[in-house]
Amino acid sequence: SLRSDFPSQLTDTVYLKWEFPIRKLNFGKVVGQGAFGKVYHAIAHDIDGKPGPVPVAVKTLKDGATLEERDILQKELDQLIYVGSHPNVIRLLGACSRRGILCIIMEYAVHGNLREFLKARHLVSDLESDRQLCATGTGVLRDADLLKMALDIARGMAHLASLKCIHRDLAARNILVLDGGVAKVSDFGLAREAKENAYYFKEPKDGRMPFKWMAPETLLSGRYTSKSDVWSFGVLLWEITTLGSSPYPGIPTDKIVTLVLRGYRMGKPPNCPQDIFDMMKKCWRPTPAERPTFRDLKDTLEKLLQYPP
Ligand code: ADE
Repeated sequence: SLRSDFPSQLTDTVYLKWEFPIRKLNFGKVVGQGAFGKVYHAIAHDIDGKPGPVPVAVKTLKDGATLEERDILQKELDQLIYVGSHPNVIRLLGACSRRGILCIIMEYAVHGNLREFLKARHLVSDLESDRQLCATGTGVLRDADLLKMALDIARGMAHLASLKCIHRDLAARNILVLDGGVAKVSDFGLAREAKENAYYFKEPKDGRMPFKWMAPETLLSGRYTSKSDVWSFGVLLWEITTLGSSPYPGIPTDKIVTLVLRGYRMGKPPNCPQDIFDMMKKCWRPTPAERPTFRDLKDTLEKLLQYPP
């Protein structure tokens, strides 16, 4: 038996199905760091039912990780197996889980996380902005590619919500951008457990605290639901329409809790289409039940973008 303390609905048979020999992984450079996890670029040989080399991302523990931390990574793997495959959720390709090792092998996102992707794009956009604004003729930056990413994320989140899976850290930094600009939801296991273990607050990934993405009821009670994920999606829309700016610019994180609980909200970003700003405001309704569902958000974005469901 691979595991003695196996808590979830998964069986060892399921793990065996995903087990991948570590000798068939060639590790490359580190592409991401968390509080206790590390993500490497690697080449996997004969994975995913395909012969030959495939670029992959491998998430594993940092040196000196504790058993508790291993457990958190294990839960992320369980979560990835549980949610299964969806075009807008990062795909599990395999895992190495023997002899105290734990590696989660995922598809590789060539463009990295959405925040970095948007910031890189900002530079291009500054050069091109005159042309773009002229092209739309309205002074509104209605960038179909960016809104398609919002739709991708809403679709991925609708899938997670339908499985009663709560993300708890939905933010541009936890969205991956793949070839063709397809956005996929990631980091839903680690982030979730990390918060419960208070590590997240001690050592956030990029030095920023997540309060600016948190719903008022979560700030008050620490409780997460799909509706608190919807709040975060509103902040994510703001990040997208500002090409990766930090939310509540100029407001220190420690002031955010009081402000948001008093009803303070961000204004419409310059060049943000009105219908997208309306969507953000619905996500930020104080009463969770009055916020849209991910299903609603997906349907609305499909209509706005005239995308087939
Ligand atoms: N950083 C974290 N996860 C990643 C992935 N799957 N692909 C590329 N970079 C990543």
